[in-house]
Amino acid sequence: MQHLANAATLWATLKQWRDADERIALVPTMGNIHEGHLRLIDAAREHAQRVVVSVFVNPTQFDRPDDFARYPRTLDDDAAALAGRGADVLFAPQVETLYPDGLDLATHVEPTHSAQGLEGEFRPGHFRGMATIVVKLLNLVQPQLALFGEKDYQQLAVVRAVVRELLLPIDIVGVPIVREADGLAMSSRNSQLNASERALAPRLYEELNAAARWGATPDAPLADIEVRCTAKLSEAGFRVEYFCFRDAQLAPPAPADARRVVLAAAWLGKTRLIDNHLFSVAGGQGTPR
Ligand code: PAF
Repeated sequence: MQHLANAATLWATLKQWRDADERIALVPTMGNIHEGHLRLIDAAREHAQRVVVSVFVNPTQFDRPDDFARYPRTLDDDAAALAGRGADVLFAPQVETLYPDGLDLATHVEPTHSAQGLEGEFRPGHFRGMATIVVKLLNLVQPQLALFGEKDYQQLAVVRAVVRELLLPIDIVGVPIVREADGLAMSSRNSQLNASERALAPRLYEELNAAARWGATPDAPLADIEVRCTAKLSEAGFRVEYFCFRDAQLAPPAPADARRVVLAAAWLGKTRLIDNHLFSVAGGQGTPR
């Protein structure tokens, strides 16, 4: 695996691959690589001969400076894990490489509809920073496809909307959530939980599962379920930001939905967890999407 930090050397490698007609996949990450990221590489391998993994803790997508400061940075371990799973290039640039004119984003990508509500409501500016860096990385690498985890369900929807609307000729592939044995969705932020928070954390997925069971009929009382699940998590010690049903496209749920997703964001101490569960609606009339 090549470990690269500057754009010129990355382009030289990419050119060799393109000259050999090899398909290139990009896996954008912020590092602290875990099994969830490694599955993105496995999925990339199914579609491409070459896999570039970027590791860049993107300052412009953090809505709180303390969150940016605390974000785990483990580049040496990341490099070993990525090489072990068969990535061809680890691209870990400096801020100046990706933001040549500084961080004030004089030019940026501003997703609107897809970024409304949920994360967009609680993390102002987050999707602008995320969409901007993703488009920069897609422009730099010009891959045939890019892969994103479904844990960040709304992020995936935003990326799909941006790529579609900006006419970028790149396939966006979503990869299912990878969970720990106790159900907790794998996330770089899990390493910030202390022992008692870590023991409590799987309750979030348990509650999403329960909500999905109750919410799987066309006329299920979704608003009541949201309130009950929020209350149960609050009693357990979470500070819940949202616990919401949507249809699979993140529009408000309706009786005709064929599939729904229930999404949550909640704090345990100083750590913010997000998770979701996509499920079918028994007897839903919509066309499966
Ligand atoms: O999901 C992430 O890790 C980040 O939001 C991404 C897509 C790498 C952009 O910085």
